[in-house]
Amino acid sequence: MQLSAPQHIAAIVPYPPGKPMDELEREYGVTNAIKLASNENPWGPSPKAVAAIAQMLSNLHRYPDGSSYALTRGVAQWVGCAPEEIVLGNGSNEVIEFLVKAFVGTGDRVITSHPSFLMYQKFVQVRGGENVVIDLKAMRHDLEAIATAVTDRTRLIFIDNPNNPTGTLISSGEFDRFLRSLPQSVIVVVDEAYVDFVDTAERIDILGYIANCDDVPAVVSLRTFSKAFGLAGLRVGFGIMHREVASLLHRVRQPFNVNLPAQAGALAALEDIDHYQRTLTGTAEGRKWLSAEVTRLGCTAYPSHTNFFLIDVKGDATRLYEAMLYKGVIVRSMKAYGYPQYIRITVGTAAENERFVGALADCRRDLGYADAA
Ligand SMILES: Cc1ncc(COP(=O)(O)O)c(C=O)c1O
Repeated sequence: MQLSAPQHIAAIVPYPPGKPMDELEREYGVTNAIKLASNENPWGPSPKAVAAIAQMLSNLHRYPDGSSYALTRGVAQWVGCAPEEIVLGNGSNEVIEFLVKAFVGTGDRVITSHPSFLMYQKFVQVRGGENVVIDLKAMRHDLEAIATAVTDRTRLIFIDNPNNPTGTLISSGEFDRFLRSLPQSVIVVVDEAYVDFVDTAERIDILGYIANCDDVPAVVSLRTFSKAFGLAGLRVGFGIMHREVASLLHRVRQPFNVNLPAQAGALAALEDIDHYQRTLTGTAEGRKWLSAEVTRLGCTAYPSHTNFFLIDVKGDATRLYEAMLYKGVIVRSMKAYGYPQYIRITVGTAAENERFVGALADCRRDLGYADAA
């Protein structure tokens, strides 16, 4: 065999997913592992979604509806926009990929922040585009530096708001000033994977920008069923955008990109407001409790608008991450993101949160971090 992948493909470092629980149990001989590493919904999927999926299973010999007619309309109604302004994807990840496929060619530039969600840069690398990466400033998107970095080769700007991994939010006023400082030729993608956890009053008026796009560059919002809706395993996400942008994205997508159970499950989840609301309330309560507990242990918890947050563990984060694996608790070390003393944890159920706090206390003591604090 003689492989000759182009250099820009060979150079891609694969995305590092959070460690799966059964892999941890196999490798470390622990049982009842808990995973607080991938910002999933710890309360599980909506029972209504599970029932709708079960009903769909006997139709698996059929292709799904390539236009996702019912789900597109359901999502549009939930958002308050027209169905033509929605593009569904196999996770919002796929909508990121569509945007890059549709708008970025070899040598075109895309601006992202560091650290932020890693997949933006990877899709750009696949296309042979050029990543322009701007460091966060005090853990927030540096909008001024991003605007300064725009050139006539810039096609897209990705802003995850709230940001992953810091959980920080930019205000609608900051965003408005930023948007109006940009040339009309760029597309600003606001990745709102965690927006469900943000107070409604603090959200950016995406629909307003889409409706008034004569004054500002195109704005796209990315949303997902993986977090607040608890359907990460089903892989459904969507983008909200001007219909002309949507029409270009439909040209680069596969005809059946959202599978049959996914269309049924996501639609049913939209109708399960109780499950959605319970998730939001449970997350807010868990975040508050966890912040207080980790502070009590001598760590610093950073305020967050999401279902996860950063903790300064006052010692090497990767050693702590490894020690916690032996306790069956999976978190994320933020060393690779440039924060060597930080871990990122997802808010779990009350029982998971207690287990995490116990393991954190034990591991920090064993590693000598508690004495140093
Ligand atoms: C900021 C951000 N955007 C997008 C995604 C991907 O979500 P999806 O599961 O919809 O592909 C994630 C996943 O963790 C994320 O953190």
